[in-house]
Parts: sequence; structure tokens; C-alpha cells
Amino acid sequence: MGRKSFYLLILGVLVAYYIYTPLPDNIEEPWKIMWLNTYMKTFSHLATVVELLGFNHFMDSFSFFMSLDEVPPTSDETVTVTETTFNNIPVRVYVPKRKSEALRRAIFYIHGGGWCAGSAALNIYDQQSRCAADKLDAVVISTNYRLAPKYHFPVQFEDVYNSLKWFLRKKVLAEYGVNPERIGVSGDSAGGNLAAAVVQQLLDDPDVKIKLKIQCLIYPALQSLDLGSPSYQENSHSPILPKSLMVRFWSEYFTTDRSLEKAMHSNQHVPVESSHLLQFANWSSLLPERFKKGHVYKNPSYGSSELAKKYPGFLDVRAAPLLAEDNKLRGLPLTYVMTCQYDVLRDDGLMYVTRLRNAGVQVTLNHVEDGFHGALGFQTFKIGKREFNQYISWLNENL
Ligand SMILES: *[C@@H]1O[C@H](CO)[C@@H](O)[C@H](O)[C@H]1NC(C)=O
Repeated sequence: MGRKSFYLLILGVLVAYYIYTPLPDNIEEPWKIMWLNTYMKTFSHLATVVELLGFNHFMDSFSFFMSLDEVPPTSDETVTVTETTFNNIPVRVYVPKRKSEALRRAIFYIHGGGWCAGSAALNIYDQQSRCAADKLDAVVISTNYRLAPKYHFPVQFEDVYNSLKWFLRKKVLAEYGVNPERIGVSGDSAGGNLAAAVVQQLLDDPDVKIKLKIQCLIYPALQSLDLGSPSYQENSHSPILPKSLMVRFWSEYFTTDRSLEKAMHSNQHVPVESSHLLQFANWSSLLPERFKKGHVYKNPSYGSSELAKKYPGFLDVRAAPLLAEDNKLRGLPLTYVMTCQYDVLRDDGLMYVTRLRNAGVQVTLNHVEDGFHGALGFQTFKIGKREFNQYISWLNENL
């Protein structure tokens, strides 16, 4: 073998090693997922290098890469797409073109991206919203919000809340032809976190008279007190959202000071004064048996009170809706939760389902046995189509 072919062989092995991701047997279209994962991994690595060189914050590069997938608001044969602002927050609005005798139902949608990236303009969200508007004959509002690292909690929460409150006024609903009794809030990942948080907040808001009909939480992030639940342990290297990235997202939501990220990574960030909150995120008591298999619950090691005093956001129920008291949960509307087996966030969703059911809230849990984080957004994957159709048919029946 010549020297050239030897180097080529080495290069080939390295590339294969970079692309190859071990995946569970029941995952469909594994090569497609590996390619997608390679794409995400490459973004992440480039962003890390750029940050190490001191040019740009990791999340700024990361969200720049994601924004390459943005599309303009373009109407098609069935749906009119426009952009406007609600309370100064930019939103994209999807209204079906067909004539409607009755008032329409509406979905207020909140995109994901770890509170740091993404927008309503991303191709995947634009496709989803347009398709939902058409299939459900519904008005879809897809809201934006300001992102980390430039803005931290509670800006993301407040932007979404202000945008939602603007929409939930009689005058605005009438303008869009929306039936005030058939409105739902929905979101995925960090958007599922924001959805759960704003829906809780609405319950105590004397200004809002409208009652939501449903909420949909698609693989939501709901707590950061325990980043060592079985799903975090089992999926720390799963595709799309490895634990390291999720921990970075969580910590960036509150601060760019990386000492919080470090503490979160070793799961030593909850101060002893807040130990009473751990019962609400205790996977040992809140997960169904089969998800606990092979795991032993350890009471947490407490972290520095200084850190928690500096960045109290992670203990705030507006950032961690799983920490709400039962009497708060009791008032929540009919809820749909989608969880994926191969997702660090799986247990957040499952624990919230237990807590909601214990509080008497009606919940549909759609646990996808071969699902991975973000799958619903990937409409070129069989699993993405399947999850999206399940979600739409649930909305069709319940909204
Ligand atoms: C979590 O729940 C288990 C029982 O399922 C209990 O033994 C443990 O003390 C709880 N820990 C906390 C911190 O609530």
C-alpha cells in the first residue's frame, strides 16, 4: 500500500468513527439519524472551537448555524402567512384560506432551541405551523422570544407570556376569527418548558378571563434540579441532544457564568435550603416502575448557596414548572404530553404526567418507544411523520 492510500484509509476510518453513532435496535432509519446527528455534532464542535479561540460565544455560533434554515413568511394555496408583533414580540400568523362559517380554534405555538436558538421562521416550525393550520382549520400563532446568551431568564418566559396575553384578548381573537373556548398552547423542548410555565401562570392572572382548552407539551424540559434521572443517565450520548448540550442550555438560560454549568454537570447545584423542592422532581417516587429499572436513587449532594443566590432562576417555578404545588396543578387544562424513550428529557415529561394525574388533571401521555429528541420536527423521517400525525389527530379530537 502506498503512503497516499494509507493516509486515505486513516482518514476514512476517522470519518466513519465521527459519523457512526451506536443506536438502539428499535430505531428506524438509523443511517439517516446518524447523518443528522453528524450535522448537529459538527455545528457543536465548530461552535466550541470558535469559542475556545475567543471569537464568539458558543450559543451565538450555534444559533447562527440553526438560523441558516430560516424561511420567509410565504403564503401558499391553503394558508395565509404573515408576520406581526404582539406586545412588541414578533410572531408569525397562519390563517387558513378556506371560508369558515364558524369561529376557528387556535394554537399558540412556542418553538424549541434550548432558550438560546431557533425561531418561528425555522423551516421545521414553519412547515409544522402551516400544516397544523391547514389540517385543523385552525389559526396558528407561532411566537418568538428573545434568546440567551444575550437575554437570560425571565426574559424568555416574559416575552412568551406577554405575547400570549396580547393574543388572549377579545378584540384580537375577534380580529382573527378565533373561538375563545377552543384555544390551546403548545411547544416542544424548551418551547414545551415555556408552554407549561405560561399556562401555569395564566391560572393566577386576574387580567385574563379566557380559559385555555388544552396544552400540548412535546418532549418538554421541566426541571433542572436533578440532571441525573434515569433518562439523563441512559441517554447522555443519545443523538441530537446529548446531556452536555442540555446542561449548557439550562445553565445559559440563567447565566453565562460557567460555574453554574459545572455545578449542574455534576448535579451539585441545589442548595440545602431548597431541599424541600426535590420531592417535586424525585424520580424515585414519580416515575413508573419500568423506567426506574436498573437505577438506584441517591439523595442529592447539595451545592453552594452562593451560586443559588446569584442565579435563583433554576429554583423558580416559571423556569421549572415541575416544581408547582398540587393546588396550582389542579387548575390546569386537558394536557397532552409526548415523551421519547431515547431522550434525556424523557423523565421530566413522565414525572409531570404523574404529578398532573395525582392532582386530578386529565392527561394523554404519548410515549414513543423508538423516539429520540426533536423527532417530531424532522418530517423527512418516518418517525417525524408518525409523531406529527399522532399529535395532530389528538388536537383534532380535543381542541
Ligand atoms: C425520593 O423518594 C424516595 C421514595 O420513593 C424517598 O425514599 C426519598 O427520600 C425521596 N427523596 C427526596 C429528596 O425527596
